[in-house]
Amino acid sequence: MAYGRLVVVRRIHVIGIGAGDPEQLTLQAVRALRSTDVFFVLDKGEVKSDLTRLRRDMLDTHLPEGGYRVVEARDPERDRRAGGAAYSPAVGDWRSARAGIYERLIAEELGEDESGAFLVWGDPALYDSTLGILEEVLAAGTVAFTYDVVPGVSSVSALVARHRTGLNRVARPVQITTGRRLAEGFPEGVDDVVVMLDAHQTFRQYAEDDIDIYWGAYIGTPDEILVAGPIAEAGPRIERLRAEARERKGWIMDTYLLRRNPGER
Ligand SMILES: C[S@@+](CC[C@H](N)C(=O)[O-])C[C@H]1O[C@@H](n2cnc3c(N)ncnc32)[C@H](O)[C@@H]1O
Repeated sequence: MAYGRLVVVRRIHVIGIGAGDPEQLTLQAVRALRSTDVFFVLDKGEVKSDLTRLRRDMLDTHLPEGGYRVVEARDPERDRRAGGAAYSPAVGDWRSARAGIYERLIAEELGEDESGAFLVWGDPALYDSTLGILEEVLAAGTVAFTYDVVPGVSSVSALVARHRTGLNRVARPVQITTGRRLAEGFPEGVDDVVVMLDAHQTFRQYAEDDIDIYWGAYIGTPDEILVAGPIAEAGPRIERLRAEARERKGWIMDTYLLRRNPGER
């Protein structure tokens, strides 16, 4: 009698680990951590090594000592000088370079019957390329695996929770965008706008308007800074605190909600 060959494929968890506070790790995330053999940690360089250490601390808290394997790899640098039309190709090249690294990590570091995990900052669904890259690796067809996604507390949820406010006003929409987009103009048809990935404090463009800002840096970590108020008043304070913190730590991660008051429409 002929038996079918048992097909074993590698399994990957993409785990959202929250935006900085280890207590934001969900029970589902902890369960996924505990069923993982190999953790892939992509380091963006020395300035971000704080974030790598935070991930390691999370593993030490929830897993038996020495009971897991971590494989670190260097994230390729993105060409951040490319602006305007060159922006997308630069992101495309960077994604492909990362896809090559992920493919190698999965093929070489993960046994066929093992589970691997990518620990993703915040929620994997928000301004994160891990899912897109894994799809790219699967499409290339050189290594077979299945993957699942564990949602995490995003920096957006953490920001509004710390400011004790909501994202939207009653029955109104909210938009999440980037500093780069905000620089092109305040989005149409929406008064509540969350801005991420803004290296240039683009909110300053709107200092003359009747808009409140709810700003947070390093949210959920011991370095957390929160400021809220009309942009005209809070803006200069944010600029000063941001510059000081950036100087002190060498890097900064900040997010803000802009809330336009009805008279401005
Ligand atoms: C590449 S995105 C990743 C977002 C992440 N997936 C999430 O759900 O929050 C990086 C941006 O997230 C925001 N961010 C992430 N963690 C943060 C934190 N602890 N405090 C403030 N902003 C944060 C910043 O706007 C930063 O530029």
